[in-house]
Amino acid sequence: MTQDIPPQSLKLSKTIVLVGLMGAGKTCIGAQLAAKLGLPFVDADTEIELAAGCGVADIFELYGESAFREGERRVIARLLKDPVHVLATGGGAFLDADTRQEIRARAISVWLRADLNLLVSRTGRRGSRPLLGNGDRREILERLIAERHPIYAEADLVIDSARESPEKTVDHLIGALENFFGQSSVAGAVQ
Ligand code: S3P
Repeated sequence: MTQDIPPQSLKLSKTIVLVGLMGAGKTCIGAQLAAKLGLPFVDADTEIELAAGCGVADIFELYGESAFREGERRVIARLLKDPVHVLATGGGAFLDADTRQEIRARAISVWLRADLNLLVSRTGRRGSRPLLGNGDRREILERLIAERHPIYAEADLVIDSARESPEKTVDHLIGALENFFGQSSVAGAVQ
């Protein structure tokens, strides 16, 4: 049970990387998880924007998706070398084989899985996602689920980002991390 071990006792030796589709809640859950574990929270898209000096949508429009992906790969490789933190990645990051390999080598990956209806309802709130700007959002997300879910499934842990409160999802995630390390090896995870 999560209550048996206070979350702050789960001090990890590896960065936790959240992966999953747009709208799965990576930023929201990541920020709350970081706060509970007393770790810094970093959003990869924000770091890419800082490095590029403009927003994700502008990068897509001005330089194209492949330039964005290149920047994404570079920025995430750099962030993975930083001290332990919680890192929310953009939905396409884990699709890149090099990025997946780096994450596997240096971090614990968590797929925040959400179903189509939830993704459709959540992505309606933010209009800054270039991949969803052209066409029917539901159809696009359905296609991305078919293409990407098998790859997200390679993550170390899978957490359902259901319609429950973010706090509950974070508690599930902390419980999954405790299980992942095993009660006896949680101490081994302490820095
Ligand atoms: C993308 C997801 C976005 C952002 C970019 C591309 C994707 O991040 O990186 O628009 O390929 O799924 P979020 O998943 O945080 O929306």
